[in-house]
Amino acid sequence: MNILVVGGGGREHAIIKKLKESPKVQKIYALPGNGGIAADAECVDIGAKDIAGIVDFAVKNAVDYAVVAPDDPLVLGCVDALEEKGVPCFGPRANAAIIEGSKVFSKRLMQKYGIPTAKYEVFTEKEKALEYLETAPLPAVIKADGLALGKGVIIAPTREEAKKAVEDMMGAHRFGASGDRIVIEEFLEGPEVSVLAFTDGKTVKPMVSSMDHKRALDGDKGLNTGGMGTVAPNPYYTNEIAKECTEKIYLPTIAAMNAEGRPFKGCLYFGLMITKDGPKVIEYNCRFGDPETQVVLPLLESDLLEIMLAVTEERLAGTEVRFSEKHAACVIMASKGYPGSYEKGFEITVPDELRGGVYFAGAAIKDGKTVTAGGRVLGVTETADSLEEALRRAYTDVERIRFENAFYRKDIGQRALKAGK
Ligand code: AMP
Ligand code: GLY
Repeated sequence: MNILVVGGGGREHAIIKKLKESPKVQKIYALPGNGGIAADAECVDIGAKDIAGIVDFAVKNAVDYAVVAPDDPLVLGCVDALEEKGVPCFGPRANAAIIEGSKVFSKRLMQKYGIPTAKYEVFTEKEKALEYLETAPLPAVIKADGLALGKGVIIAPTREEAKKAVEDMMGAHRFGASGDRIVIEEFLEGPEVSVLAFTDGKTVKPMVSSMDHKRALDGDKGLNTGGMGTVAPNPYYTNEIAKECTEKIYLPTIAAMNAEGRPFKGCLYFGLMITKDGPKVIEYNCRFGDPETQVVLPLLESDLLEIMLAVTEERLAGTEVRFSEKHAACVIMASKGYPGSYEKGFEITVPDELRGGVYFAGAAIKDGKTVTAGGRVLGVTETADSLEEALRRAYTDVERIRFENAFYRKDIGQRALKAGK
């Protein structure tokens, strides 16, 4: 089969490497891919948000199946547009991708169907939001309604910071139209768990759980990033919690989307917090997580393409989704300065024998060399029988990969190691 993967980050690289293990895969195009993905797929310079360009490419190149990985094209209706031209896809249609595209939608969905989440209020007027903050409990959690590159959530410990966040979103339009409506919600406490799940709208099959490390610096300090590392499985996600999540969160969410006439097919990401009152949903994403995918898919033993086709064809119930019992750790190597400004264009050298577990994100090819081209440059994943060993191997690999101004967290997995003991 000719496969097209939309997107160009570490997540897409992990998807592509896993798809390549499938005997059915003949050719993979990545739109746009990146300089590192180019070793595993044919990269074509069509942006992930260029829906017309993607559809045109798929039709002209006899693409048999498309995997739409990032949030933007999903929310923009990339799957709908491809399906209209007869290209089957992995990923939700726009009317279901709204579960990530609008926080107001997802909060109302959870409230209507009794799915546990933080208490919240919705505001469309800045003055009303500011007035509410006069007496709201602190810290206040303020979220822009729409997509905001993962930066649309502010946790404000004081009233001043909370008000400033509202001014930024609704007054200065820092996130454009995404901030025209906001959600202010209750602050929840507890360990966070990411669970990605395959679903065809009838059956839900959760993948192995994982733990992201969102802050830029060691000890969970510094600014929020797209994720600086991940481990899987997440030790806080016990069998008991998994059972509770299936009953109270996963199955009700699938049923709720069906009841709303928005069946969800694809990978549904549950961002969970294990509070003292049980697991609650922090957020839904309509896609694979990044960098969660870089630890989850290396542990998948079943054929990824077969699972994806089963999701599209609504026969997931009869398809095996098996994970190894091993542990995986991914350490992200970033450009110094990220998530702020940073220099790029430095040559990246990766010993050949490591390439299997290296997932490129911010990489380009210049004069035949792979060079840095983004904040998060690549992720290195290793698997082993214990988390300790997976981490040791991942950090040994990191030491052997070189580019100028490389920066990475030294404490990925430390919390998980302590929790697991
Ligand atoms: P999100 O973009 O929704 O994933 O939010 C980013 C991060 O903000 C989450 O991973 C949590 O760490 C944190 N967060 C979001 N909502 C809450 C909440 N209600 N209480 C505490 N932390 C939150
Ligand atoms: N790692 C968080 C996300 O993919 O949104």
